[in-house]
Amino acid sequence: MTARAPSWLSMATITTKSKENAARPEAAPAPLDWPLMYNNITRADLDAVIEYLRQDSPILTQSRQVGLFEQEWSAWLGVKHSVLVNSGSSANLLTMAALRETFGPGEVIVPTLTWVSDITSVIQCGFRPVFVDINPRTLGMDDEQVIARLTTQTRAVFLTHVLGYNALTQRLLDELKVRNIPLLEDVCESHGATFNGRKLGSFSLMSDFSFYYAHHMSTIEGGMICTDDPGLYETLRMLRSHGMVRESGSEQLRRRYREQFPDLNPDFIFAFPAYNVRSTEINAVLGRSQLKRLDQNNERRRANLRLFLDHLNPGKYRTDFEVEGSCNYAFTLILKQPDPAFRDRLEHRLREAKVEFRRGTSGGGNQLRQPYARKLLGDRAFENYPKVDHVHFYGYYIGNYPELEQSKILALCALLNQLG
Ligand SMILES: Cc1ncc(COP(=O)(O)O)c(C=O)c1O
Repeated sequence: MTARAPSWLSMATITTKSKENAARPEAAPAPLDWPLMYNNITRADLDAVIEYLRQDSPILTQSRQVGLFEQEWSAWLGVKHSVLVNSGSSANLLTMAALRETFGPGEVIVPTLTWVSDITSVIQCGFRPVFVDINPRTLGMDDEQVIARLTTQTRAVFLTHVLGYNALTQRLLDELKVRNIPLLEDVCESHGATFNGRKLGSFSLMSDFSFYYAHHMSTIEGGMICTDDPGLYETLRMLRSHGMVRESGSEQLRRRYREQFPDLNPDFIFAFPAYNVRSTEINAVLGRSQLKRLDQNNERRRANLRLFLDHLNPGKYRTDFEVEGSCNYAFTLILKQPDPAFRDRLEHRLREAKVEFRRGTSGGGNQLRQPYARKLLGDRAFENYPKVDHVHFYGYYIGNYPELEQSKILALCALLNQLG
């Protein structure tokens, strides 16, 4: 009996050139025309907005639709409260502002591979960011390094689930519980992904989502902060809207402020230095329409990722990601070896094939190489994080959307596997 060839090898064999062809100059591959995201706001979503606008004098600013989207999102995620804002970055900012209001200044442990607002929100709210390197199999923070950096000054661990991969471990959850240190999750790239069967974003004191166009679902721009904590929920509602006390849903809290500040018009009591990061009814209508098919879309994304990783040559690319519970809107393409010439050939072929990609994955790689971080930590701090630095130069993301045809995924794998 002959052993079955691995799936990546069979694809490579199908597309291997004959000896005769090998002598000719390589033909440019047929364009795959593969954008980072495609058709993420559908006709049905737009029709839902048009239907809403048809009524006489529809309310457009934050009102009932926002409230309904928040309730439906909370039910989907399995948390008590959600607060809709105008972007994932605003969700990050309010999360840090609420942490600061509640626990005071100190250190926040952050990843080196994340979106810029996960770090800048920490700095803007007066915390000291403490960085850790990644676990290459999840692209999330290395849990041993997180635990090693916990101190009496740690106010929170602000973890990012990168590109759909779960970054939680039971060891980290147990350690934070014992030490009574809050966990915060950024789930902007991982809607619907799970750990031990439970949705990411439901494990932490506060969790953040983004509904930017390129993500799992979209409200054009948008973000959500989720929490089970009733006090933080009221704080977040006020922070979203100038710090105004009347934004709180708690009559008890509003009365307390009225009684404490009798000289103020109760409509204009500003509890904190805050922001206006509200969303609108139109974004909420889009979100409600999108949420109905999120789970179904995510099943397609999971199948696409499995197909992609199964057919990539593991000698050239990393395929050993921890995919259990993952849910990606992007394929992670990470070279096994730090080979600049191979990387240049890869980028050239992807451009020729019209496959859009981002080097360094979604946030552009090692945050400590960025000018804002160098100013804070010095020009060479990035050298202490070699694993994220590999992704910075040799890691990519490519779009994964529900309508992606399997044949295209196989053609991309063949193209990548041919590269030598
Ligand atoms: C991990 C992460 N956090 C936060 C954000 C910010 O979200 P937004 O683009 O909606 O501001 C992003 C955006 O891509 C992200 O990837």
